[in-house]
Amino acid sequence: MNIQWYPGHMTKAKRAMQEQIKLIDLIIELVDARAPMASRNPDIDQLGAGKGRLILLNKADLADPRMNQAWMEHFQKKGFEVVKIDARNKGTLKQIQVAVQTACKEKIERDRRRGILNRPIRAMVVGIPNVGKSTFINSFAGKACAKTGNKPGVTKGNQWIRLNKSLELLDTPGILWPKFDDQQIGLKLAFIGSINDEILNREELATELITFLKAQYPGLLSRRYELSEETEPIHVLEEIAIKRSCLAKGGEADLARATRLFIEDFRSGRLGNITLEAPELPKEGENDGTANA
Ligand code: G4P
Repeated sequence: MNIQWYPGHMTKAKRAMQEQIKLIDLIIELVDARAPMASRNPDIDQLGAGKGRLILLNKADLADPRMNQAWMEHFQKKGFEVVKIDARNKGTLKQIQVAVQTACKEKIERDRRRGILNRPIRAMVVGIPNVGKSTFINSFAGKACAKTGNKPGVTKGNQWIRLNKSLELLDTPGILWPKFDDQQIGLKLAFIGSINDEILNREELATELITFLKAQYPGLLSRRYELSEETEPIHVLEEIAIKRSCLAKGGEADLARATRLFIEDFRSGRLGNITLEAPELPKEGENDGTANA
């Protein structure tokens, strides 16, 4: 399948973000724990050079717990602070305050040397569409935090949410555009719902996911849909249609309905905790996504 993606507003969004980044001390970058590399845009490392960096492995509740651990270690080795969260669940957000302080310890130290005490850290949430930015801001900021007014030097329209005396958050998140020159990245983004799948051939997409699951999570599909493990990926949708009574008028398998059901089962976590990619070493000469590159 050939996935194309030309977000027309890409350059404009990048310019806006460059301006906003000047105002902040810390970038809180959300990635999708099911595909932490595919759901990052590596340009953020350049855009955010010199800023504190915190990666939130969001939707960790849907991902494979062993892989969550592996990805945390991967990003920590690269110098990022990392917390795994479920943005809908406030309880998982508690560790963030400590991570924010650690990510900004150089700034705090610099301020202290200059005699500036208790200046709040200003942070901005960034991430690709659907990664959970709004959910996170709502849960993290909650109702308790009044918006502070526009301040000198702040572009009109930028509102800060004061979380406590040591942290302020820009109320609108920065949208990063998904980036892929590699079809595999595009596929993963499509699986997790970060690319509008109207533009895709959903049956082909589902078959790709079935192929991956059969290889990496053997037994999972047969358990969920009572299929034989021997079923070829190309026939799995047909079997799901029959097992789940997705039938067209004449009684034949309604593949479109089975596809929707299957993709929704994956995206909602009903299929289980699944991670689509493992951390790997960067190829030589590649941007390895190191914090403050
Ligand atoms: P965005 O601002 O980055 O675009 O994302 P948003 O917060 O709108 O979240 C996208 C969807 O992901 C929402 O589902 C939201 O509830 C869900 N979500 C966000 N964080 C988490 C998480 O940590 N775990 C899980 N399981 N889900 C999370 P939605 O409202 O149902 O929208 P949709 O999925 O129907 O598009």
